[in-house]
Amino acid sequence: MTKTTFQGHLDDLRTIVEPALRSALSRADWPESLGLAVEYSLMAGGKRLRPVLVLLANEVCGGSAQAAIPAAVAIEMIHTYSLIHDDLPSMDDDDFRRGRPTSHKVFGEALAVLAGDCLLTSAFEVVASAPLPPGQIAELVRILALAAGGGGMVGGQVLDLEAERGSFLRAENSALLSEMTANTGCDLKKTTVAEQAVLPGATAKIRSPGSPNSDFVTIDSNRTAETRVVELTRIHKMKTGALIAGALELGAICASADSESRNQLRQYGHCIGLAFQIADDLLDVTGEQTKLGKKPGRDVDLGKLTFPGLLGIDESRKKAEHLIQEACRAVEVFGDRSRWLKDLARFIVERDH
Ligand code: IPE
Ligand code: IPE
Ligand code: MG
Ligand code: MG
Ligand code: MG
Repeated sequence: MTKTTFQGHLDDLRTIVEPALRSALSRADWPESLGLAVEYSLMAGGKRLRPVLVLLANEVCGGSAQAAIPAAVAIEMIHTYSLIHDDLPSMDDDDFRRGRPTSHKVFGEALAVLAGDCLLTSAFEVVASAPLPPGQIAELVRILALAAGGGGMVGGQVLDLEAERGSFLRAENSALLSEMTANTGCDLKKTTVAEQAVLPGATAKIRSPGSPNSDFVTIDSNRTAETRVVELTRIHKMKTGALIAGALELGAICASADSESRNQLRQYGHCIGLAFQIADDLLDVTGEQTKLGKKPGRDVDLGKLTFPGLLGIDESRKKAEHLIQEACRAVEVFGDRSRWLKDLARFIVERDH
């Protein structure tokens, strides 16, 4: 009998994704250690949210799953690379991910970095091999690159770390920075995200850039609380929202969707993407390691700028809830076919993992 519950549909889609990920890994020409490190992270489970979103968007636009599988695999590869790098000692310095020790704990930092690089690069090879016309493939590559790059996930990760530690441009070599300022005309001393995050008239301690263990520096601020929320929203939209919105757009492209459908799905993606990171911040406060597969409490340890940190738990929940309602409105255009997307939006804020 066909399963009709949301959970059943999610399971069906994951059943498509898992073997597709595995077959993208069968690379005889990779060094054995690299293959093992990539497999270790990619095949460790995880919610598979982004590939599921590719398939759901493709489905709601009437596409065939077969044509969308390469894009689904590619975005999960990029997401997994982002997690490996996110956990590195120079970034969030985490020991557990997807219920296992992090990649660098098992394989060492060099191989963890390279496994991430390999996943990122392979993602583009996979998407370029999709059974679609060249114009559609080029569009998939463009959207994937935009979502993952400096204006998307990578840029958001930079802002996330700067909010925690202060600008990277305040690196130890101030003479070199001054020289660069003189040569480029850029103001390298402009206000950082972390400075902007401090309450008006207050002082705060932020970490010096470069090393999570280095001394804290005290900064003063005249920023408003509202500005801090705006800045954090930008960080979350970039580091997490961009890949999630990108997943929906990839699915729409695979189905040759018209521009209205594509725009509505992108809009839905931006709303659930931000809600997803708010939920992640909340779970870091309220969640359990056994369910999360990663250690909670790390955001406070690291001094991260987060929604519960800024607004408290209740307000953060309300904000996520509003975003979910906005997301559901964005997909009304699909009528009854929007059902799974609406259920998924709800799952994002109600999840415990
Ligand atoms: C974790 O993403 C990183 C964030 C963007 C918050 P997920 O919560 O989707 O991680 P997996 O894929 O299920 O492991
Ligand atoms: C990570 O955000 C976003 C990425 C681009 C990987 P977090 O640092 O909050 O993710 P977790 O909590 O470690 O999974
Ligand atoms: Mg992080
Ligand atoms: Mg992290
Ligand atoms: Mg987190």
